[in-house]
Amino acid sequence: MNLHQIRAVYKTQRKENSFHNIQGNNYISTTLSPRTCSRNMVMPADFPEFISSGTPDMEWWKKTTVYQIYPRSFCDTNGDGIGDIQGIIEKLDYLEDLGYETIWISPFTQSPQRDFGYDISDYHSISPQYGDMPLFEKLVQELHRRNMKLIFDLVLNHTSNEHAWFKESASSRDNPKADWYIWKDGKGKNGTKPPNNWRAMAGNRAWTYYPARKQFNYTAFLPFQPDLNYHNPEVKQAMFDVARFWLNKGVDGFRLDIISAIYEDPDLRRNPLSLRLAPSDKSLTIFFQNLKNNFLQEKSFEFATELRSVVDEFDNPRRILIGESHGEEELIKQFCYNNGRNGLNAIFLFKAISTPFKAESYREMLMTFEKHFPEPLVPTLVFANHDRTRVITRLGGSIEKAKLLALFQFTCRGIPFTYFGDEIGIPRVRIPLKQGKDAIAIQHKWLPQFLVDRSVEILNRDECRTPMLWNENPNAGFCAVLASPWLPIAGNFKEINVEKQLAEPHSLLNFYKKVIHLRKETPALHNGSLEIAHDLCNKKILAYYRISNGEKYMILLNMSPSRVRNPVNNANILLSTHHQSEESQLQPFEGRVMISGR
Ligand code: GLC
Repeated sequence: MNLHQIRAVYKTQRKENSFHNIQGNNYISTTLSPRTCSRNMVMPADFPEFISSGTPDMEWWKKTTVYQIYPRSFCDTNGDGIGDIQGIIEKLDYLEDLGYETIWISPFTQSPQRDFGYDISDYHSISPQYGDMPLFEKLVQELHRRNMKLIFDLVLNHTSNEHAWFKESASSRDNPKADWYIWKDGKGKNGTKPPNNWRAMAGNRAWTYYPARKQFNYTAFLPFQPDLNYHNPEVKQAMFDVARFWLNKGVDGFRLDIISAIYEDPDLRRNPLSLRLAPSDKSLTIFFQNLKNNFLQEKSFEFATELRSVVDEFDNPRRILIGESHGEEELIKQFCYNNGRNGLNAIFLFKAISTPFKAESYREMLMTFEKHFPEPLVPTLVFANHDRTRVITRLGGSIEKAKLLALFQFTCRGIPFTYFGDEIGIPRVRIPLKQGKDAIAIQHKWLPQFLVDRSVEILNRDECRTPMLWNENPNAGFCAVLASPWLPIAGNFKEINVEKQLAEPHSLLNFYKKVIHLRKETPALHNGSLEIAHDLCNKKILAYYRISNGEKYMILLNMSPSRVRNPVNNANILLSTHHQSEESQLQPFEGRVMISGR
């Protein structure tokens, strides 16, 4: 889309439209007021051709809603206490009914499972715990039959140290794969000191000594996940072929694990010190170090554009790329658009997770994201995943706040990604570090538990990976009654489970269903531009419009614990988080989608 086309969308026009009122199940006919060019809209003059193609089908990813499945924990059908692909197939009707159009599945290829699949030992076969290739192919078919899409979690940055490539590479300095990973001589008299001060993202030192090579090996994450050397063109080609392999199997896109780490500074410059101990969602810092020389290198942004070309070899339908990176928006937006070239379709914006749940903070966040990711870029906010505290726990256990957050996430611009179980409010399940199966927990098991308990963020990622709660049977329907689930089942599963919430009209689950369907059926909500209604925003209220082709909707969120007067007249309420919504005032933590009469 070029600048003229975008401006054209903003031409004043008046159009009559009909809308489905999903609360009352009747139809409202409304005349919309003229639209004006937004004050806070940043025209994307410097993004002239960004992945904007034309046909609506090719743009499916801009409209979609994504449900992340952690396969170990979703549904076990063979009684081993570990979820599997058959389990995912059996639950597709549930996801389709909720209105989700895409699923992202965390890795399920061969792996020693030290990082539960993020340590891959063979990119071309399925881990037998989860199933086999014919079953995977059936999953793709079942999804496509429902007009749903699949995002594959592609770990390009590193392999497992049990991958055949690494075993060969580590065996000597002169084997055919000797240069496939990052090896450096050590410092000091005997070369036993690490090449520099770099730390990995998981907090450990980035270098591990291998006596067979008398050299250090580099990792951006945990020592058993050695980084591939992308300066070597053979490695790049091998990994592009891995991508092609899965694209040929019919996957619709990739979530790119830790894409920020693909390249490191070739001169191995030391990292500067930082004042921060704990990792931050804003910048890449950990243990008093700013990881600026081993993450977010210019070459990684270029890499995104090369990967784009690979993925664009497959265009029916168009395949997508979504990257995982922490860091300032200014920097990470270059994954999407770099030096005049298209890269990833979207990059996760982790800042959303740690932004305080307050109207003013959310307004500021929206302004920042709209500034750095103006149309046709797509800001993609992260509120949860398999590494972070559960949403409901972060919100202090409040269902009202969880509904409000869902309303926000499904009505603001960007691709909504939600994590399995958040739609019913599965809480963080406390599991002491010492009992952790997660590699990060194992690495930190020396930390006193009381310190860990004081933090909102989890160090033991098992706590957000406990099984899905399907019903009130023993093991919550996740696995057979006599099986032992790989992680404990949340204690309150009799109150919080899918079956129960489907039967309760005002449950969190049914609210998800309503808001997802409203988004799906309303072009302005999945496609429109976003304009913040600054005149209505204050300490308690966040208000914005979604606008497209003659449709204008207002979203009004009361993010405070008190009642507030409704500042808007003549607006029809399409959906409210509260089933007893009053025209004149908003209840504590009530959010509404309205057809704007202003
Ligand atoms: C990403 C994944 C995380 C994994 C790590 C290493 O951050 O989300 O679960 O442990 O990369 O692959």
